[in-house]
Amino acid sequence: MINVLFVCLGNICRSPLAEAIFRDKVGKRGLSHQIACDSAGTSGEHDGEPAYPYSIKVAKEHGLEITHLSRKIQKEDFSKFDYMIAMDKYNLMDIEFFAQKTNNSNRCQLFLMREFDNQKSGKNVEDPWAMGYHKFVECYQILEESCENFLNYLIEKHKLRG
Ligand code: 4NP
Repeated sequence: MINVLFVCLGNICRSPLAEAIFRDKVGKRGLSHQIACDSAGTSGEHDGEPAYPYSIKVAKEHGLEITHLSRKIQKEDFSKFDYMIAMDKYNLMDIEFFAQKTNNSNRCQLFLMREFDNQKSGKNVEDPWAMGYHKFVECYQILEESCENFLNYLIEKHKLRG
């Protein structure tokens, strides 16, 4: 099983949305028995909370359900997950800092989500929190294309077949 963790700050806006989009794509390609995913936040400030209502809404508009409850990234994640996909550079720095404090940091490959956008831009997935709904629509679109490309990358790299 290939395990993927999507990471943002609060784990209520971007990463739960990425998780839902990616899981749906994995299922549609018949790869659910080969790829699993989860999401987490670097802050822990929203622990136990459901996703932000606009993330739930934009997901629902595309036929996706978000049931994830926010959780903070933990030491064990570095031995469980093969890939960690950070939404922005701050998240990436926090993950790297956290990884230094664990003994298992080598197991995980770290990427920025937008290394997989169509331009391979490496830009941040901007935080839509406390912004209008249109920012969540933009966020969805960026995550949709980035998740598609990331999944194709995994399929090619691991020679997966659905
Ligand atoms: P997320 O968005 O990192 O995409 O879940 C945020 C949610 C909450 C906060 C910041 C970003 N906050 O500061 O509470």
